[in-house]
Parts: sequence; structure tokens; C-alpha cells
Amino acid sequence: MAPELTLVHGRERATPVREFTNAMSALASGVVIVTCRIDGRPWGMTVTSFASVSADPPTVLVSLGSDALGAAAIAATHRFGVSILTEAQVTVACHGSITGAAKYLEAFTDSSSGRSRSPVLAGALAHLDCELQSAVRVEDHTVFFGRVREARAAGEGMPLLYHRRAYHTLAEPASLRPTGERSNRCYTN
Ligand SMILES: Cc1cc2nc3c(=O)[nH]c(=O)nc-3n(C[C@H](O)[C@H](O)[C@H](O)COP(=O)(O)O)c2cc1C
Repeated sequence: MAPELTLVHGRERATPVREFTNAMSALASGVVIVTCRIDGRPWGMTVTSFASVSADPPTVLVSLGSDALGAAAIAATHRFGVSILTEAQVTVACHGSITGAAKYLEAFTDSSSGRSRSPVLAGALAHLDCELQSAVRVEDHTVFFGRVREARAAGEGMPLLYHRRAYHTLAEPASLRPTGERSNRCYTN
């Protein structure tokens, strides 16, 4: 069990937002649509602040702007989904990222979404159906922790990536071998 942390509010000035966001744009991320229901209809927003937190029990987090309509819907319904996008899904990524626009997903969802209670994007690489476990407000965002009730990895294709404020996909990995290695894997589990 890790020791409990005591948080100390520092007196140092935070770095300017622009410097912070410029630095963060150097990190290449996968892109997901966090799905929920608003007025019973599928809704989704584009997100890169998504992470696996625990494998057993399976738990993930997403960090959403607290003012986003999706954040309010997840807090109200205690349910959300995470669809991991392929490189072929830039259109829905753009659809889900326009602040203030209606981000209903009927045109993009898989109506045969099986047992998932959250909307599932058709053609996604994978989908996690999550029950809200807890939510923590941190400055202007809320971090939602979700217990994964169903995980499916049915999709095929290359992932969609976001880097330097633009969408990309993976190059063939053959050139990324560590020096002297035959494989581009650093470990084998
Ligand atoms: C590639 C990309 C990643 C994004 N990641 C996040 C994120 O992790 N968290 C977040 O709150 N907003 C993120 N956004 C912005 C939201 O998609 C956008 O502000 C949101 O959909 C607006 O919702 P609203 O109209 O309900 O305010 C991202 C946008 C893009 C283009």
C-alpha cells in the first residue's frame, strides 16, 4: 500500500498557460471519444486525457473540462464509454471537439452495441463501457474514474494520434528498433 500523500499548495507562480500547452503538444497521444447520453441520445467529446489506472479491477480515468456538457451528463448518469479511434476516424474526432456545438453521435454509432450501456462508435479500435466510480475536481477540469464493465477490442487498423496540434498515424515501426535488437519491443509481456 502506497503511503498517503500530503499535498502542499506551493507558493510558486504557475507557468504561463501557453508555455504549458506548447510543451504538452510535444507529447503524442492516442485519441478517444468519451461517449455518454444527453436527453437519451448518444453524445461524445474528443479526448486525449485518457489513461488506464488499474488492471484489477479494470479502471480508467478521463479528464474533462468541468464546463463541458459531457462532463455534466457523466456526473448525472454515472456512465460513460471510451471509444479508441482509428486513423480513419478524423471526421468524428473533429465533430467531437467543437466547443459549443451539438455533439450527438447518431451518425457515428454502432446500433448493435451489444451489452454496452454507453454509445459505441462504429469502427473504433476498442471500446470500454464504464460505470462512474468517482470524480475529482482539479482546477478547471474534473477527473472521472470509471470501473470498466465491458471491454471489447474488435476493431482493426492503425490508431489515430494527436501531436503538435494535428492528427497523425503510426509509421511502420521497423525503423524503431533499439540499437542492436531484432525486435522493436523492449519487453515481452
Ligand atoms: C485532439 C483533441 C483532444 C482533446 N482532449 C481533451 C481532453 O482530454 N479533455 C477535455 O476536456 N477536452 C479535450 N479536448 C477539447 C474537447 O473535445 C472540446 O473542448 C469539447 O468537446 C467541448 O465540449 P463542450 O462543447 O460541451 O464544451 C480535446 C480536443 C482535441 C481536438
